[in-house]
Amino acid sequence: MTTADGSPLVPGTLCADRIVLITGAGRGIGHEHALQFAAQGAKVMVNDLGAGVDGSGADRSAAQLVADEINASGGTAQANTDDVSTWAGAQRAVASTIEAFGGLDVVANNAGILRDRMFVNMTEAEWDDVIAVHLKGSFAVTRHAVDYWRAQVKAGEVVQGRVIMTSSPSGLFGNVGQANYGAAKAALAGLTIILADELGRLGVTVNAIAPVALTRMTEGLPGFVDAAKKALEETGFNPFDPAHIAPLVVWLGSTASAAITGRVFTVMGGEIGVAEPWVKGPTMTSTEPWNPAAFTEQIPALVGQARGNSDMSGRTRT
Ligand SMILES: NC(=O)c1ccc[n+]([C@@H]2O[C@H](COP(=O)([O-])OP(=O)(O)OC[C@H]3O[C@@H](n4cnc5c(N)ncnc54)[C@H](O)[C@@H]3O)[C@@H](O)[C@H]2O)c1
Repeated sequence: MTTADGSPLVPGTLCADRIVLITGAGRGIGHEHALQFAAQGAKVMVNDLGAGVDGSGADRSAAQLVADEINASGGTAQANTDDVSTWAGAQRAVASTIEAFGGLDVVANNAGILRDRMFVNMTEAEWDDVIAVHLKGSFAVTRHAVDYWRAQVKAGEVVQGRVIMTSSPSGLFGNVGQANYGAAKAALAGLTIILADELGRLGVTVNAIAPVALTRMTEGLPGFVDAAKKALEETGFNPFDPAHIAPLVVWLGSTASAAITGRVFTVMGGEIGVAEPWVKGPTMTSTEPWNPAAFTEQIPALVGQARGNSDMSGRTRT
């Protein structure tokens, strides 16, 4: 079995017989997830609507091609072309996985679109469509999967469920021109923490990744294509290859990751990091009602003691 660009994949048994639903797995990062879960013995439902980067259109062959690729190389996969941004589409994607393979162990919420626009010009549709695919889609697929896992637990089965959300540096750190996308991705990081707390009792862990890779979604970003080419020429290792994202997701989907939940991982090329969450920083206290006029001095002094926001690399802005 190989990655999408033909590099060899080391086969293994880390996910032997695990049943995995990957949304948006017809292309890019999700395609690599599908190949690498299958290479580790998982049965994979390749969901993809076949949308354009902006969410328009539907090329229903995208999911089937990936399923065919996996089956041709000895793995097990089927295709599903439902739109996960709708409640009913998400339900069908989950139900068809259970019907095809007799269960469900892992949901990788990966489907995504972009409608970048400076906020002053952003339309209602650009906001709604991006929130629908990323945030509602991840909610809806997970919610239907949880129905299944809850019924399993009630029936006395042991569940080792895994949910992997796909956040983004744009959501964790903020990126100009992506108010809709970044807000959805930040919400997914928050959802990860809440669901980890709620679903642990069912045997379900919930983690997220914030990846960076060269796909059709990022190929228009300044410098991405050139940087990937340069790194490959100079070192023989392309840190922008989407194939480097999947190994972490495959491990998070395995039973070996049971102790890890509620975490957001940054991942690009040869670097994996754990994003450190919001914490309460410096505080000031009062035993009397606050005087807003005094804040003119107090608040800048308080903010001056706090760590700054991060830049897009995740480091504190200087
Ligand atoms: N590429 C990056 O650097 C990067 C960075 C941060 C986050 N991400 C996230 O990673 C995920 C994958 O992105 P990618 O770069 O591989 O992009 P991509 O465009 O190559 O893949 C996204 C896939 O999602 C599918 N899709 C879109 N809407 C769908 C829907 N409603 N139902 C089912 N499938 C749908 C598309 O058809 C497409 O195949 C996205 O969530 C994206 O936001 C990517």
